[in-house]
Amino acid sequence: MALIDIADPDLYVESVPHERFRWLRHEEPLSFHEEEDGAGFWAFVRYDDVVEVGRDWRRFSSVWGSSLEELDEEQLAVRRSMLDLDPPAHTRLRRLVGPGFTPKVIKTYETAFRLLTKEVLAKAFARGEFDVVEEISKPVPVLWLCRHLGVPESAAQRLIDWTDRMLGQSDPDYAELDRGPEARYAPFGTIAGLEAYEYAAGLAAARRDEPKPDIITELLFAEAGGDPLSDDEFKNFFTVLMIAGQEASRHSISQGVLALLERPELAARLVEDPSLITTATEEIIRWTTPIYQFRRTATEEVAIHGKVIKAGDKVTIWYISANFDETVFTDPLNFDITRHPNEHVSFGKGGPHYCLGAGLARLQVQVTFGELLPDLHRLELNGPVERLRSNFIHGIKKLPVKVI
Ligand code: HEM
Repeated sequence: MALIDIADPDLYVESVPHERFRWLRHEEPLSFHEEEDGAGFWAFVRYDDVVEVGRDWRRFSSVWGSSLEELDEEQLAVRRSMLDLDPPAHTRLRRLVGPGFTPKVIKTYETAFRLLTKEVLAKAFARGEFDVVEEISKPVPVLWLCRHLGVPESAAQRLIDWTDRMLGQSDPDYAELDRGPEARYAPFGTIAGLEAYEYAAGLAAARRDEPKPDIITELLFAEAGGDPLSDDEFKNFFTVLMIAGQEASRHSISQGVLALLERPELAARLVEDPSLITTATEEIIRWTTPIYQFRRTATEEVAIHGKVIKAGDKVTIWYISANFDETVFTDPLNFDITRHPNEHVSFGKGGPHYCLGAGLARLQVQVTFGELLPDLHRLELNGPVERLRSNFIHGIKKLPVKVI
């Protein structure tokens, strides 16, 4: 057992255990952590290692899954998404969605997205008292995503609910108590995952009957490397886009609002000098690091930092530690809206799975804060902030504010 535990979700309820990660970076850059319900995992915590392992898919593969949960062959076969593949099978899927996420395409949505965001903000402020998570951080990404993919907006609340439950299984507010055996074959082993699969199947049937000019239709009619997408592939594609497209942006918005409410002088500076929004956006995304870690599996024996990782061992890369590595970031615990360069790894760093939605996410954060900042001084905290109990997602569940 490593001297310091980092897997216990309770550790993340009050705040990020930065001190533990700092200690590990200095004293145990590669540590092994036992698990009650698994074989244990290795943890890389230094910036350079996180980048290197994330890129080296030949030695650190994704095909046994990208999360700590251990899946058998049958579960993997049904649940595998693009996150759980290596090139070239991964490249085949990535090529399908890539064109819908190029900077040029994202740019074409900007005006519509900005309008949508303004509407969400106006509605929230009109309430007088509200929860930033419920009224801003959840609706903005989900509505953008629905528009972008071609999912009816009437499904937005269901998409939010499924994502909450899928990623919140270690949090008592979202845990599904009686999941039943079938849920093992759905994302995160959840009933929410089964419901999302069912919704995806219905959406696919509707678009096959009546194609529309949207990403969902393109996916369904595309032939990846000559083969059409199978139904299982589509369901997993839909689910991964649904989760990835909401969760990380949502928490970046919440954490950014909190950071700026706690530092009104920085919010005022951003209003005075809107050109700072670009560096501020990067800093919000670094500061948040919405995804704490991802998992890989070693394909061969690797000797490193005086230890030996064996083929088949689970390996994790901790973005939350890399983003606060003092050998790369000056004064990393300082929220610095002018930080430049800011080579954070919140989206990964150059590996095959580098975040597909990075451009979209950046625009989301930039537009949301661009629109919100002139009015941010009118908000004040109005109750305790509640954080997600998770060793995977850096989430805020509640951020109550009132308009003054
Ligand atoms: C601040 C917001 C976001 C953060 C921090 C984030 C972070 C990440 C990270 C860490 C990865 C894995 C990187 C790796 O293993 O190298 C990833 C992958 C992915 N992200 Fe994001 N993401 C965000 C927003 C989005 C959005 C808005 C979408 C849009 C749909 C999206 C779609 C995806 C997809 C599909 C993948 C899997 C890519 C693959 O396997 O090739 N993400 N993201």
